[in-house]
Order: sequence, then structure tokens, then C-alpha cells
Amino acid sequence: MRGSQTITFALGVVGVCAVSLAARAQTASTLEPVQYPESYRHFVHVKSTVIGKDSPDFQRNGGIHHFYANDKAMEGYRTGLFPDGSVLVDDSLEAQESAGKTTEGARHRVAVMVKDHDRYSSTRGWGFEVFKGDSHEGSLPAEGRAACVRCHASGRDSVFSEYRP
Ligand code: HEC
Repeated sequence: MRGSQTITFALGVVGVCAVSLAARAQTASTLEPVQYPESYRHFVHVKSTVIGKDSPDFQRNGGIHHFYANDKAMEGYRTGLFPDGSVLVDDSLEAQESAGKTTEGARHRVAVMVKDHDRYSSTRGWGFEVFKGDSHEGSLPAEGRAACVRCHASGRDSVFSEYRP
């Protein structure tokens, strides 16, 4: 390799390194998207909660909530530490009342927590996402995500619900 070619080659290598460093820095600062939890209704049903009209949370979160956990998350309920790969789902549905009976209406949204220490290190190892209605596309803006992280920080490894066998 002649002198000038060597310099061009060396500059090329530096350029590639700079680009890949920039890409890595970006990955660390931008939270990676949480995938839709396919077939979550086949997970373990952890519990259900109904938030009715008398609750101060009704405006924000009223309706029927079924909570689901995949196998890894079940380990977390047992030990108190949720391993990477844990998926927790808050399946939020409209509550339809008729003649004293409450039944499930349309799906409001699917709220999801996914544990991955590397990808979500800045949010206590959890990725948060919301899928509105029947959509499989995440819709949570950054400030909404910050609210999830803040409130969930007081849970056990950021999780509030407990499993009852
Ligand atoms: C003001 C507090 C608060 C905020 C904000 C909040 N949550 Fe929760 N979340 C809770 C509580 C309390 C429970 C448990 C409810 C129960 O047991 O009935 C819960 C339960 C959950 C669960 C089931 C796992 C668990 O911790 O029990 C998921 C998944 C979840 N929330 C996702 C989210 C997402 C995503 C956001 C942001 C869009 C969010 N939450 C915002 C308080 C909050």
C-alpha cells in the first residue's frame, strides 16, 4: 500500500469507528421500543381489578383490568426480582353494566412492562409501552413513559401486583 493510500485507509477506519460510536451512543440514550405482547391472554392470569366511577382513578384508568405475566415474570412474583425477559400486561377493558351485571366491553388499551437490564438500564431495567385499543403499534409519548417509571418506582422491583396461587 502506498503512503497516501494508507492514510486514506486509516481515515476510513476512523470514520467507520466514529459512525458506530455515534450509533451506540444513540442506542443508550433512546429507549428501544417494547414489542406488542403477542398471545398475552395465554400467559398466567395474575389478578383482576375493577376501577369504578367512585374511584379518583376513574377518569384516567376506569374499567376492568386483567393482569397477565409470562413464565419469567412468574419467577419474579416468587422471588421479588424479575429476570430479563419478564413480560407483564395490564389488559384494560371497558366495563359494561346492565341489570346489575358487569361484563367486558371494548379493549381500552394494553399497558406493558418488559424487563431487559441492558436496553432499559435508565428506567430501572423496565421498558414501558401502551397499545391503544386493538392496535399493535406503541403510542406512549416520552412524558407518559416518565410517569409510568416514576409511579412504578415504589413497587417491588417496580411491580405493584402480587400473585395469589
Ligand atoms: C400513579 C401510579 C401509576 C402510574 C402512573 C402507572 N401505573 Fe401501572 N400500575 C399501578 C398500580 C398501583 C398497579 C397495580 C394495580 C392493581 O394491583 O390493581 C399497576 C399495574 C401495572 C401493570 C401490572 C404489573 C404491576 O406492576 O402490578 C402494568 C404492566 C402497568 N401497571 C403498566 C403501566 C404503564 C405502561 C404505565 C405508563 C403508561 C403505568 N403503568 C403507569 C400504578 C401506576
